[in-house]
Amino acid sequence: MTNAQKWIAATLGLFLILLVLGKLTQEKSDEQEMPQMMMQQAEQSSQELDGLSLIKQAGCMTCHGADLQGTKMAPALENLKEYWTRDNLINYLRNPSSFGTDKRFVEYKSKYKNIIMPSYNNIDVKNLGKIADYLLSK
Ligand code: HEC
Repeated sequence: MTNAQKWIAATLGLFLILLVLGKLTQEKSDEQEMPQMMMQQAEQSSQELDGLSLIKQAGCMTCHGADLQGTKMAPALENLKEYWTRDNLINYLRNPSSFGTDKRFVEYKSKYKNIIMPSYNNIDVKNLGKIADYLLSK
């Protein structure tokens, strides 16, 4: 082998060793990050959901539409701040049937005859607050 060939062989060898080492350490750090990522996701689904995510989770879009723009089954959830205070809206979500006397609701009753807005007293008030905040900010 000439000197130049030796150098090339040595450089290639070194390169290969670094490549293998790099792979090994990378696999290790992947393993360490996985459980942390999974924990973060679990935490998010149990407590840290924002208003919009809670609305998705509760299934409001099934009736009110993907953008809450209204469907044949339920009215649009827009401009709600014209009608609701935060507290009243939370109370409404917990017990919609007690708000049926308003003129707007008399119309709703005939327009969405066969659909009943469910009561969400199974969602805790803090999360209903987040839902109300989101709806009032739209
Ligand atoms: C089964 C269909 C259905 C689902 C699911 C549903 N709604 Fe409704 N919602 C209605 C109907 C129908 C009305 C019209 C009121 C009535 O008929 O009493 C309504 C009315 C409302 C109103 C009053 C609108 C206004 O003009 O003031 C709000 C606010 C509301 N829904 C929010 C929600 C939220 C938030 C969710 C999810 C947590 C949800 N709804 C899920 C059917 C539904």
